[in-house]
Amino acid sequence: MRLAGKKIVLGLTGGIACYKVAELTRGLTKAGASVHIVMTQSATQFITPVTMQALSGNTVYTDQWDARIPNNMPHIDLTRGADAIVIAPCSTNFIAKLAHGACDDLLSTLCVARPHHVPLLIAPAMNVEMWLNPATQRNVTQVKADGIKVLGPAAGEQACGEVGMGRMLEADQLLTEIIASFQAKTLAGKSVLITAGPTFEPIDPVRGITNLSSGKMGYAIAQAAWEAGADVTLISGPTALDAPYGVRKVQTQTAQQMHDAVMVELAAHHQHVFIAVAAVADWRVANASSQKIKKTSDSDTPQLQFAQNPDILASVAALAEPPYCVGFAAESENLLEYGAVKRAKKNVPLLVGNIGHHTFGKDENELVLFDVNGHKALPRADKHTLAIQLIQEITQRISK
Ligand code: CTP
Repeated sequence: MRLAGKKIVLGLTGGIACYKVAELTRGLTKAGASVHIVMTQSATQFITPVTMQALSGNTVYTDQWDARIPNNMPHIDLTRGADAIVIAPCSTNFIAKLAHGACDDLLSTLCVARPHHVPLLIAPAMNVEMWLNPATQRNVTQVKADGIKVLGPAAGEQACGEVGMGRMLEADQLLTEIIASFQAKTLAGKSVLITAGPTFEPIDPVRGITNLSSGKMGYAIAQAAWEAGADVTLISGPTALDAPYGVRKVQTQTAQQMHDAVMVELAAHHQHVFIAVAAVADWRVANASSQKIKKTSDSDTPQLQFAQNPDILASVAALAEPPYCVGFAAESENLLEYGAVKRAKKNVPLLVGNIGHHTFGKDENELVLFDVNGHKALPRADKHTLAIQLIQEITQRISK
């Protein structure tokens, strides 16, 4: 319920992307927001007010002269007490109106009449040529300069059959952007590099050694760092998860590949923070076969030999000018004792301990943070909540 208690005025203008806003409305209400829909006449050509009222559970407004508002001033009353106004889809014409402060229908008038502290977010949706038109680009530059947040658009196939920039973001991406807009940008201007998930060490072309890490904790931390305004790169082992929105993901398989990808990123960009969440295999199979190993007889078993993998976290911490390094420790018992010892051994300022088999693959976790001052528990919660708390803890430490 990331939007619990938030009042969102959701404006729809004319565009085929109106169909995506039905799903966005569901997402917003499920996240705890109360959603108040305002539609232009053009928007009602694409989706009905009946649908939007049923989904939002609130009266839908389309008319500047709507007498259901006691003082007959919907352009004022609807945004009072609002936490944000979101226009999705936002047409070429509506961007032009915003850029010039036009007030010729309820939605445009309501935007101009909004209290100055209520943020306005727009999700453009239009044909590629309309997006690229110099007048549109001029208007987009103007609305950004006026403090309006522009979400997207994305590139891709369009309803008209043409391909290019101008597609509205998907409903889940818009929801993520709206949630993120309420987060303090405490990591703005900072780059954060994260490893996540398990590694997979081949035995032969069809078999390998891996572990039960799902990647959920690392991906949630990447999402929380992006929400806090950071530029985030996620080096992931094999997981079933999509890259978090806004995060650049580099896919790897083995510990060696993960190590090499981390070193490439560190050489390419200055990274302020490195968070090693991945459950990296300590050993790889030294005599992996390039062909599938066959069972030749009932008594025959393959003889695997192991070689040690590089310790990614220790290698980064040992650099001449390391980023602020955060390690994870997945223990099976004695967390308080082993966590403190591991922090010293890995030589990192912050180590996050958890009980591996209590968390791998689950949506919840509990963490213990170890630093030079001792330890601090973050009680059991879902991984997104813990990720936000951990990012706050890291931010406090790097700001000192
Ligand atoms: N780690 C790493 N590279 C490795 C092994 C571990 O970067 N080859 C990182 C993990 O991402 C984690 C931390 O080191 O942040 C701790 O990993 P863990 O496996 O729990 O500790 P180990 O040092 O391997 O100790 P042990 O397995 O003996 O508990």
